Amino acid sequence: MMSLADFLIYINGQLLPRSEARVSVFDASFQSGDNVWEGIRVYGGRVFELKAHLDRLYDSAKALEIRVPWGARELEEAIFATLRANHLYDETHVRLIVTRGERRTSGINPNFVEGGPTLVIIAERKPPLFDKRGVRLVTSSLRRPMPDSLSPLIHHGNQLNSILAKLEANRSGVEAALLLDHHGFVAEADSANLFLVKGGEISTPLASACLAGITRGLVIREARGEGLPVVERNLSLAEVYAADEVFLTGTLVEIVPVIEVDGRRIGAGKPGPMTLRVSSLYRRITGNQGTPVPDAVAASPERA
Ligand SMILES: Cc1ncc(COP(=O)(O)O)c(C=O)c1O
Repeated sequence: MMSLADFLIYINGQLLPRSEARVSVFDASFQSGDNVWEGIRVYGGRVFELKAHLDRLYDSAKALEIRVPWGARELEEAIFATLRANHLYDETHVRLIVTRGERRTSGINPNFVEGGPTLVIIAERKPPLFDKRGVRLVTSSLRRPMPDSLSPLIHHGNQLNSILAKLEANRSGVEAALLLDHHGFVAEADSANLFLVKGGEISTPLASACLAGITRGLVIREARGEGLPVVERNLSLAEVYAADEVFLTGTLVEIVPVIEVDGRRIGAGKPGPMTLRVSSLYRRITGNQGTPVPDAVAASPERA
């Protein structure tokens, strides 16, 4: 059985035990959250939506003017090497982080960074975050930043807005927080996108104050492909309370039903038929799509 300490972390071309996997205290990411990242899942020896994640990483880095010196092929190889080193091929979550790099001195100026970005890849065995019977949300007192302050299309590592919202959820004893945008429309949950179902129609907020999640995009595309009506529009909190069903989407949480929002029971207070349909659609796709990890060793040591 591999202990946590035995896991190998990829840092700038090296695979190091967790206790030795360190980033400088002068790294722009450590000092200011100045990084871009992706959370990626691995199912049955295949990396799910790998290209979409790398595309988003490059787009986010471009917006922040972080010059990523590694091409997609190199990043893919680094991910595969990390998975192989840890014998992780299933029920695995990969966190890939590209920081702006190490500063010569403290201070936010990107010009203080000397040398290139830092690449970190952490692969962990991780079942879906939440119980598939459903989660409860509370609306946060905070708003999600709009594109005029910090574009939600940039998938950056400064997660303080989400962390402050999560503190409110924790204090309320529920699993996650719901954040609104500056107009009071629903944006997303603290680390997942939100969908609601009413009268057979599926709706999700416009990606103006939420991340354009890869799972969100996939659900929209696949549900439409199945002939289900899906619209992207402004949603009010009252519509969430009155929905027949609400569910969250994200790489980490997959598809998870929401059974309560701000103390109001959603629909029947249990996973609804549309949520179950979307969930099984997602399970089917994750079960047969993705980029195979080359030279994957069939059985992991834990299971051997
Ligand atoms: C703020 C936020 N919203 C939504 C998501 C879900 O996005 P995806 O489906 O691409 O994992 C994430 C995932 O990292 C996130 O950080």
